Amino acid sequence: MSKTILLAVGSFRKQSFNKSLANYIAETLEKEGVTAKFLNYRNLPILEQDTEYPTPQEVIDIRNEVRNADGLWIVTPEYNGSYPALLKNLLDWLSRPEKQFDFETPTVINGLATTASSAAGSTKAKFVLENVHTLLKYIRTNVMTGNGVGIQMSQETWQTGELKLTEEQKEQINEQVLQFIKFINKK
Ligand SMILES: Cc1cc2nc3c(=O)[nH]c(=O)nc-3n(C[C@H](O)[C@H](O)[C@H](O)COP(=O)(O)O)c2cc1C
Repeated sequence: MSKTILLAVGSFRKQSFNKSLANYIAETLEKEGVTAKFLNYRNLPILEQDTEYPTPQEVIDIRNEVRNADGLWIVTPEYNGSYPALLKNLLDWLSRPEKQFDFETPTVINGLATTASSAAGSTKAKFVLENVHTLLKYIRTNVMTGNGVGIQMSQETWQTGELKLTEEQKEQINEQVLQFIKFINKK
């Protein structure tokens, strides 16, 4: 059976450059025979400990999608040198015990293969990629070595509102796709 990689995009903006980058990643994964699925986590509530249990249905559904995946690929913008709050909220939910006070059973994200990419400005996403990798390690996912691919968006991309990847950037992403497929197959 083919492997499944979930893509979690850190922006819900309609014309999101990172969604566009994730579309390119998904197409490339599919060409390599891997099923690429977008994780729709728009309806996740904000995690507040007073309402964490009983677990909201949206959270149960997302956890089940993650449980059934072979890998998780974060594609996120850089917000002030880090990841957007909505992505942190998703990862916070995934990092928590499914049963209240059960700190023995591994969480749904424990040991899951992860990687990240980002389309950003002149920083080439350096800071968000560093921070997201630190977080992915902290919550005990199995993070692929390296900090992922950071795409510096061109003037044309900013002006037209449409992400234009250069051939070199496409090659970098293609390489990350191949590496990640190898990584999830090692398990
Ligand atoms: C709150 C906020 C902070 C931002 N901080 C950064 C930043 O630190 N580095 C950067 O390259 N771009 C930054 N940007 C610009 C984003 O790269 C830009 O808005 C981009 O379009 C967001 O990604 P998206 O198109 O996938 O939604 C910031 C944007 C917002 C809204």
